[in-house]
Amino acid sequence: MTPTMRLVIVVLSALLPLSLSHGRDPLSWLYGRQSQGYFASLQADMASRWCPDECDCPPAFPIAMYCDGRGLTAMPSIPSHIKYLYLQNNAITAVSDSALMNATNLVWLMMHHNQLTSEAIGKKAFLNLEQLERVYLQHNNLTSIPSNLPRSLRDLRLNHNKIEKVTPVDLEGMDNLTILYLHDNVVTDMSTSLKALTSLTMLDISSNQLTKVPESLPENLHQLYLEFNSIDSVPEGFLNRFTQLQYVRMSHNQIKDNGIPPNTFNVTGLVELDLSFNKLERIPLVSATLQHLYLQANQIKEFTLGSFCSAVDVTSFSKLLTLRLDGNEISREDIPSDSSQCLRMASTIEV
Ligand SMILES: *[C@@H]1O[C@H](CO)[C@@H](O)[C@H](O)[C@H]1NC(C)=O
Ligand SMILES: *[C@@H]1O[C@H](CO)[C@@H](O)[C@H](O)[C@H]1NC(C)=O
Ligand SMILES: *[C@@H]1O[C@H](CO)[C@@H](O)[C@H](O)[C@H]1NC(C)=O
Ligand SMILES: *[C@@H]1O[C@H](CO)[C@@H](O)[C@H](O)[C@H]1NC(C)=O
Repeated sequence: MTPTMRLVIVVLSALLPLSLSHGRDPLSWLYGRQSQGYFASLQADMASRWCPDECDCPPAFPIAMYCDGRGLTAMPSIPSHIKYLYLQNNAITAVSDSALMNATNLVWLMMHHNQLTSEAIGKKAFLNLEQLERVYLQHNNLTSIPSNLPRSLRDLRLNHNKIEKVTPVDLEGMDNLTILYLHDNVVTDMSTSLKALTSLTMLDISSNQLTKVPESLPENLHQLYLEFNSIDSVPEGFLNRFTQLQYVRMSHNQIKDNGIPPNTFNVTGLVELDLSFNKLERIPLVSATLQHLYLQANQIKEFTLGSFCSAVDVTSFSKLLTLRLDGNEISREDIPSDSSQCLRMASTIEV
């Protein structure tokens, strides 16, 4: 018996004499059958410290495993107690059905900047990860969203891959998903895949090949980023259902005047609207509560004050702070002198 164990016994005998009155010896775990329990817990403790050679599991934060930036080409073994797994910046090419089998407590899975292709991810690879909340798979070679991603996800990043299509079954039931990054892929079709995402607040599908605004945009969005696509028109009333939407970015598309139904952007709540680098010839009607409007690099020929203010008096005027109109076909002389009443808040008007 080591001196430490002897000390433990002395301390325990001092602390636990009362339980003797219940007829049980508090030290029975030290001998007889119960001692198996002691060694089992010692083993469990060692298992919870076990870490594959190629990774680091800091003793001060034993539920995290760091395997990032080590030139790995295959998945390491993952002890089941790990919650936060860092595998980014490697050259991992595959995740087999069994690779994450024991990792049932994973909450974060960081696998960005690897060499994953969709074919090399097992259909059941993510199936049992019921605690998983955050998955980073950006900068890989995926051509589709991995199947059977856990419905518990809150943050899913798939940007900078080669994803062509997003289907409803990919995202169905992800009630808690709040962030979805799909930018810098080659998506042409989203069908109604976003419909079920009732908690989604941040959607970035910029730099893809969309020719129209995705259908069934989730109603709780705060940020909608669609810039650098090939969208030429927006659906009638497509911003009407939102109550939280503040940022709409649609720069670098092909939007023309006749692609914007009247009143599309006359919605309260919007803070920023970016329609720069499109094909507009007129300033669309915007809500008087909008604060930042970007229209640079279009073909706008006329400064229509009515786009900002239908009437001007003490209480009704535009809240616009930033207005960019540079790179259009108008000059400062085209701004009517009475605009200073309507645009009295604007600190930046670039023409
Ligand atoms: C999962 O755990 C079992 C039992 O501990 C072990 O035999 C197996 O190798 C583990 N699998 C992986 C992929 O880590
Ligand atoms: C992933 O894509 C890059 C760039 O296109 C390419 O160099 C690399 O070979 C691809 N890796 C795999 C595993 O397909
Ligand atoms: C969403 O989060 C809530 C609260 O944390 C949880 O009870 C629920 O099971 C989660 N939904 C899914 C689909 O995992
Ligand atoms: C814009 O919306 C406001 C508030 O809903 C409304 O009062 C106003 O008439 C609309 N402007 C036009 C030109 O329809």
